[in-house]
Amino acid sequence: MNKQQTDHPSVSLYQTADGSHTLESQAYGATYHSIFGAIDESIHVFIMAGLDYQRVQHHREHINILEIGMGTGLNVWLAALWADKHHINITIHTIEKHPLDPTTTDKLNFNSMLPHLNDSQKRLLSEIHSSDWNTEVKLNSYTSLTKYHCDVLTHPYPPDLYDVIFFDAFAPNTQPELWTPEYHTLLYQSMQKNGALTTYCAKGVVKRMFKGIGYQLDQLPGPNRKHEMTRAIKA
Ligand SMILES: C[S@@+](CC[C@H](N)C(=O)[O-])C[C@H]1O[C@@H](n2cnc3c(N)ncnc32)[C@H](O)[C@@H]1O
Repeated sequence: MNKQQTDHPSVSLYQTADGSHTLESQAYGATYHSIFGAIDESIHVFIMAGLDYQRVQHHREHINILEIGMGTGLNVWLAALWADKHHINITIHTIEKHPLDPTTTDKLNFNSMLPHLNDSQKRLLSEIHSSDWNTEVKLNSYTSLTKYHCDVLTHPYPPDLYDVIFFDAFAPNTQPELWTPEYHTLLYQSMQKNGALTTYCAKGVVKRMFKGIGYQLDQLPGPNRKHEMTRAIKA
C-alpha cells in the first residue's frame, strides 16, 4: 500500500490492493475502506449486496437509500452509475460530519478504475463533492442526492422510508457509539418492510445486536480476503 500526504490536515491517501485509492483518517486511526480494495469492497458490500439485491429480489422501480458516512463519495458515485445502467430511479440521503476538501477528493483515482466511463460519468464524482449540502440535487436522469452535513447520531430519521442502508461507519472498535442497539433501532425504524442494511462488518456481537432489534440476517461472503459480511433485512 503506497501512502501519500494530502492537503487535508487529518487524512492521508493510500492505494489499496485493487489499485483504487482510499483515505486514512488520523483522527479516527482508521482507513475509509478495506486496504485489500476500496472499489471492490464498495461494489461487493453496498452496490451488489444492497442495491442490486433490491432490484433482483423485490423488482423495485424506485429505491430510497440512506448512507451512514459519505466520506470519499465512492458509494454515492457507484450507486448513481448503477441507477443509470439499470434505468432505476434512486434517491440517496447521505450523512457526513467531516466533509473532505476538494484538494483531497480531486486526488482520488476512482474514475480511472472503471472502464468505459463517458465524460459526464467521470465528472460526476467531483459534482457530488461540489454540490450544496442539505439541498436535493439531480446527479443524472435517475439519481437524486441530498448530502446532510451533520452528526449521524442527531440526524432526524424519517420513519418507514429506506429500502437500502449503506452502513459505512468506521468499525465498532473505532466508533462504538455508532454500533449500539439504541442507534440501530432508529435506523431500523427508518426502513421500509423488506429493507436491507448492508455492512462490511460481520462481528458476532454486531450480528447479535441486529438480531435483537428484529432483523433477519443473511451471512454473505465478504469482499477480497474477507470471509464474511452482513446483510440485515427488516422482514
Ligand atoms: C468508513 S468512512 C466512510 C466511507 C465512505 N462511505 C466512502 O465511500 O468513502 C466513515 C465516514 O463516517 C464519517 N463519520 C464518522 N463519524 C460520524 C458521525 N458521528 N456523523 C457523521 N459522519 C461521521 C467519517 O468522517 C467518514 O467519512
